[in-house]
Amino acid sequence: LKYIGSKARFAPEICAILQDYIYRLNIKTYIEPFVGGFNIIDKIKCKTRIGNDIDSLVCDLVTSCRNDPSLLRLATTPTRDKYYDVRDNPAIYQNWYRAAILLFGSYNARVYGGCYGATSKTKDGKTRNYFEEAKNNFIKQLPSLDGILISCCDYKYIVPPSNETALIYCDPPYADGIGYNSEFDAVEFWEWCRRLSEKHIVIISERAAPDDFVCIWQQETKSHLNNRAKKAVIEKLFIHRLNYGENH
Ligand SMILES: C[S@@+](CC[C@H](N)C(=O)[O-])C[C@H]1O[C@@H](n2cnc3c(N)ncnc32)[C@H](O)[C@@H]1O
Repeated sequence: LKYIGSKARFAPEICAILQDYIYRLNIKTYIEPFVGGFNIIDKIKCKTRIGNDIDSLVCDLVTSCRNDPSLLRLATTPTRDKYYDVRDNPAIYQNWYRAAILLFGSYNARVYGGCYGATSKTKDGKTRNYFEEAKNNFIKQLPSLDGILISCCDYKYIVPPSNETALIYCDPPYADGIGYNSEFDAVEFWEWCRRLSEKHIVIISERAAPDDFVCIWQQETKSHLNNRAKKAVIEKLFIHRLNYGENH
């Protein structure tokens, strides 16, 4: 599912690392507190998979369409006027429909503070339909979302199992905060990771981390968040040093 900050591009590398922890430590529960477009969790094999996000749009879209994929036939490419009507009048549209229009039809999948991007003219004068492309990708993704337990709350309310070690993969909004709906307190987040690392394996996607976290993977990329000034950034995975010592 196209989503701002999606890790789809890095999925092969990130999933290989996560899957290795699951096999080596015989982990039965995988939790993603910031699941976004479900682009990592959909490739993970684990007995129990839990995907959570604070954004009800993604949660509504996935839960409704997983139950009834034929709904998506009703979501056809919106005109510009329709897109803004759906965006600005939440009360008169069904949640899943509004989610589909905004997630598939926003420019660069930027729903909050973004703009219409369902179709656009390419350099050779043809029209490209981004909405249909995103919708068809989502239809292909749906079977891999089967069985995922979905919840929609602030990550702080997630309660991991107390009688086993879970793998928790966190992909929080970047510290610069562009394109998201809510403020994010990074200090509080790292403190939460520290606390959970005492019992569980916590792996975090970020570009930088406090000193007690160790970088276990990195790759250079061009940021897509601000199209006008694409700059090179380094995408990294971190783990708390408590877990690093034991498992490497
Ligand atoms: C970088 S995106 C995740 C992208 C995802 N890994 C993917 O590949 O599609 C970050 C996500 O964190 C969510 N988020 C932001 N603040 C949150 C919070 N306090 N609790 C839970 N989720 C939150 C956002 O809605 C967004 O979906």
